Amino acid sequence: MGSATKIGVVTVSDRASRGEYEDRGGPAVIDYLSATVTSETHLITSVIPDELGLIESTLVGLCDDENCNLVITTGGTGPAIRDVTPEATENVCDKMMPGFGELMRQVSLTKVPTAILSRQVAGIRSSETGGALIINLPGSPKAIAECLDAVFAAVPYCVDLIGGGFLETDPDRIVAFRPKQK
Ligand code: MTE
Repeated sequence: MGSATKIGVVTVSDRASRGEYEDRGGPAVIDYLSATVTSETHLITSVIPDELGLIESTLVGLCDDENCNLVITTGGTGPAIRDVTPEATENVCDKMMPGFGELMRQVSLTKVPTAILSRQVAGIRSSETGGALIINLPGSPKAIAECLDAVFAAVPYCVDLIGGGFLETDPDRIVAFRPKQK
């Protein structure tokens, strides 16, 4: 067991960042991680408006300065003119991981027809000292759990492959799948 895995949690919302309503997305992500990840983690949270440059700089800061190996965003993935989280994510990633968005939308579509309105993506910002997997989630707390349930089994191995910390999960919630080494 190494040191704590650093995980960034970013709420992207104009109104939550102005304090016009309580941020419910960030706490929902934190609740999910607290219940699911059993290895030691260090969470770094922020609530920011839907501004492309600010989302990009927040993601870069979490990856490059804070050395997060996983960054989860919530909000700003829809079709509205201010929704730019996927664009910001693509701009800071070296490699996109399309399977995450595909699977999250596929599973979400079994719950709600408006799941197709989320343009959520995931990608890797690489670093020789340990890259970061960035995953976009929609803003609704219900969507957060549905989307993370869909993909989280693959997250620990993905973090292994990019040189991040060793994430362990509660198998009663999510069985982390790591292919057997030959
Ligand atoms: N996915 C799941 N699993 N559950 C949901 O309720 N809501 C959808 C979609 N994805 C939803 C979902 C809706 S209504 C929208 S507008 C988009 O996510 C974008 O949400 P965002 O702008 O908060 O990111």
